[in-house]
Amino acid sequence: MYLRIGLSCVAIVLTGSVALAQHFGNPKNGETIYRQHCVGCHGISGDGLGPDIKELIVPPANFHAAKSRTKTDMELYLAVKQGVLFSPMHGWADRLSSQEMWDVLSYIRMLAPFNPLG
Ligand code: HEC
Repeated sequence: MYLRIGLSCVAIVLTGSVALAQHFGNPKNGETIYRQHCVGCHGISGDGLGPDIKELIVPPANFHAAKSRTKTDMELYLAVKQGVLFSPMHGWADRLSSQEMWDVLSYIRMLAPFNPLG
């Protein structure tokens, strides 16, 4: 009985880590993509103060703000993939593969880790 409960816990933990591994990108590759496509708006440190923002009506996200840090990886991934409505942030699905989008996201999470408390 106890053994069976123990085994199902192991199974749940293993399944969980497989799910995480699928979403886990390569931050090194992500850094290259970030510097190529994102730094102009989001800035070198991810604070949203890139060199190209003067003309923008909606300012780019500051990834260090609680608003971004409290969002899940999936929420941010969808923003990268589909873009943010009524903002200059267009979707990247036509330019980056899903692996590249996870890579760039893992780099962003390295700059500003997920923090559910903000
Ligand atoms: C033209 C400027 C511009 C470029 C280039 C750009 N972004 Fe954005 N980004 C924005 C704006 C504006 C927003 C919306 C901010 C808001 O909703 O307040 C945004 C939002 C986001 C968000 C959602 C943040 C949140 O907290 O909801 C993510 C993630 C993001 N960008 C990632 C990227 C990545 C990755 C790239 C490069 C592949 C990129 N952006 C390129 C301007 C840009």
